[in-house]
Amino acid sequence: MIDKVKEFLAEVSAFNATTSEEIETFRIKFLGKKGILNDLFAEFKNVATADRKEFGQVLNSLKNNAQEKVNQLKESLENNQELKGIYGDLTKPEEPIELGARHPISIVKNKIIDVFSRVGFNVSEGPEIEDDWHNFTALNLPEYHPARDMQDTFFIEKDPDILLRTHTSSVQVRYMESHKPPIRTISPGRVFRNEDISARSHCIFHQVEGLYIDTDVSFADLKQTLLYFTKEMFGKSKIRLRPSYFPFTEPSAEVDIYWGLETEVDYKITKGTGWLEIMGCGMVDPNVLKNANIDSEKYSGYAFGMGIERIAMLLYQIPDIRMFYENDIRFLEQFKSVL
Ligand code: DAH
Repeated sequence: MIDKVKEFLAEVSAFNATTSEEIETFRIKFLGKKGILNDLFAEFKNVATADRKEFGQVLNSLKNNAQEKVNQLKESLENNQELKGIYGDLTKPEEPIELGARHPISIVKNKIIDVFSRVGFNVSEGPEIEDDWHNFTALNLPEYHPARDMQDTFFIEKDPDILLRTHTSSVQVRYMESHKPPIRTISPGRVFRNEDISARSHCIFHQVEGLYIDTDVSFADLKQTLLYFTKEMFGKSKIRLRPSYFPFTEPSAEVDIYWGLETEVDYKITKGTGWLEIMGCGMVDPNVLKNANIDSEKYSGYAFGMGIERIAMLLYQIPDIRMFYENDIRFLEQFKSVL
């Protein structure tokens, strides 16, 4: 009989509960009217006289321990509920805070801004919905100029033409109209072209335009600035300027950087030449200065324009331009560590 009570003692001490229902069941089982303790006390008279003292002692311990257990469990349950209160369960481990990632287009845009701001360029912006003057005519692209076909345009309204800007060169014109030289500005922004979407091109993409106007600005200044940019941006120190044509610059050039031929990827992206085209540039055509009311006898300047997607694709070896716009979290979260 005493052994039986000792087993119950062990059961009581091992017992644990997390809900008030569990505690109540336990209380009824041991301390209830028809509970174990009452049954055991009823057995008292059947215990041999010699054992009565010990039996009485263990029985009392069982009663006290059971009562104490109930009190203890009730108290800790109440404490927990109090803590939960309006703040929820404060004893729960904190959920990990997910770090976000900047979009690669923003990363590259910020990097370009940073490089140019170190040599005195400010940042300017213009509207995405443009008029014909700022997107074409003022940039030396009068109506029926064949070079307008170089940039397939989304029109919003006809006569007078309102359109989605096809390049950020439109911001050049706006900036010159509202600021006096010296001008040193870069204009990042989104541009739109009515083109088929493929791995290489998209109808929406981003450009950064650069503009420098002052007295005595020469082609050598342009080249030096671009060399500084490619060193800072790509860590490459060899560029070449290939003669090209843009209506708003004269002379115009295409800028290639020497990427190198060290890896298989280098061979692939440079088509085995080691050279990569990264932007267009030139000396601002005097007609463009005149259109923006800047004295072309006194001032000269250079301009350049580049695609942000193209640069991001090179820097991060992104094979398909569409990846920038799909918002696939598996793609975006790879940029978590880049600021
Ligand atoms: N606007 C040109 C384009 O979208 C890029 C460009 C070329 C801008 C030469 C310039 C420049 O300022 O001088 O293709």
